[in-house]
Amino acid sequence: MAIAGGTVKSIVLDGPVDLPGFRCAARDLLARQIAPEQVSWHSSSMPTQDLFADLASPAEPDEQHAPAVAKPGTGNPSPITVPPEFLTLCQTVILHSDPRRFGLLYRLLWRLVHEPALRHDPLDADRMQAQHMAQAVRRDMHKMKAFVRFRAVEDMHIAWFEPDHHTVEATAPFFVRRFTQMRWAILTPECSIEWHPADGNGKGSLHTRPGAQKADAPPADAGEALWLTYYQNIFNPARLKLKMMQKEMPKRYWKNLPEAQFISELTAASSQRRMGMIEQVPTEPRRRIPVFTEGAAAAARGQAALNVSQTLAQMQQGEKPVNLQALNAAAQACRACPIGQHATQAVCGEGPVRARVMVVGEQPGDQEDLRGKPLVGPSGQLFDRALKDLGWARASLFITNAVKHFKYEPRGKRRMHKTPSQLEAAACLHWLESEIDLVKPEGVIALGATAASSLLGRKVAIMSERGQWFSRSDGLRVLVTLHPAALLRMPPRATRSRLHRLAC
Ligand code: URA
Repeated sequence: MAIAGGTVKSIVLDGPVDLPGFRCAARDLLARQIAPEQVSWHSSSMPTQDLFADLASPAEPDEQHAPAVAKPGTGNPSPITVPPEFLTLCQTVILHSDPRRFGLLYRLLWRLVHEPALRHDPLDADRMQAQHMAQAVRRDMHKMKAFVRFRAVEDMHIAWFEPDHHTVEATAPFFVRRFTQMRWAILTPECSIEWHPADGNGKGSLHTRPGAQKADAPPADAGEALWLTYYQNIFNPARLKLKMMQKEMPKRYWKNLPEAQFISELTAASSQRRMGMIEQVPTEPRRRIPVFTEGAAAAARGQAALNVSQTLAQMQQGEKPVNLQALNAAAQACRACPIGQHATQAVCGEGPVRARVMVVGEQPGDQEDLRGKPLVGPSGQLFDRALKDLGWARASLFITNAVKHFKYEPRGKRRMHKTPSQLEAAACLHWLESEIDLVKPEGVIALGATAASSLLGRKVAIMSERGQWFSRSDGLRVLVTLHPAALLRMPPRATRSRLHRLAC
């Protein structure tokens, strides 16, 4: 750092990011009561000119002096106290490429000392300008971390990058941490950095080299071809947000990003690909086929008895979900009985929240468990046929089950339906009653014994009671009928007439 005398002081710093030099000079100028308008800042790589012409009143040409070496600290320096944030701000702002940054920082320092109120004025123009500069520097460092692309050359990885500010050395520690074991270099027009990892005994070392040209960086390698294939495959057209993408990855960086060559093509095809994805049949989750052991099953039964009594006690205390979404979310976590642990998901009811008729089946089957919807498997198809015969729209009904998880027994790769026990149905009852509370149907159709028993709170003999309406103590009317699965188990000739019975 050098100081030249005269009316206008010229300060020459040792390079564009010479923070120690700046601090030393600023302290000295302040001690000598030299106002910001009387100082002209330069760094050894900058052309010598008045660098803060736009920020402060320009010095008269004849007042300018060529920078010359001078000894700082000749005044009577009394300790200067500034908020610690100011030093942090200086560390960042000094990395900005705007040559006016030194003048701005010194003016801020001067004003902090002479205008105590400045500390409490975040909207002050100088403070805001410094904050904007700091933000731009941080953004530049972030972009460098995100957009540096190394290419392998023998035992070294080399990247080319063009930062907007003097951020290369400040960002280097990130790459050292990330690629500690690798020998690498990042070439930039202003300066380059090179990392040599530890060679057994010693520590790794970071070197700063002169700036380079893009042609000095290596061409694409085989690793890059792999990255490009990967990039094209992970590009998800359904998640494309063009504006956000360009904000995150501004076009000026594209020239050094190998994957950028595909962006236009991929974005142009995205809407067609998105439509294709929508039209595709959804893939189902894989079946979970756990291994049951008798010991584990017995332990689970014991735990279930405990959980059910707790659940019933909570029900009595009136803890009820506020809407069907909340109910669905809460049921996913239900482990009041052991079934939930082995199912893919809890399958709650679906249909209009103000449906006049609610239909209650037994429990989700294999298909329902995978798709998360009630009555969509073979029983559901039979049920749909009965609705068609009746001329009822499925969409007008609220369809649910007495038990929300699929109970099954694994048999090889298949999951065989198992009727839920009374205990399991009791553990699920509060979900069904909450659905009834939220939908408030005028009537409920119980498909089969499990649903009928849950709804009526007693054992129901389905063959003798089917086709009858029953009134509950809360006034809700329940029609008991056969479960479609019962028809599926009958010989085919009987099915047609039984289907008619289900519909009646
Ligand atoms: N699927 C259901 O959702 N419920 C049943 O009762 C049977 C199959």
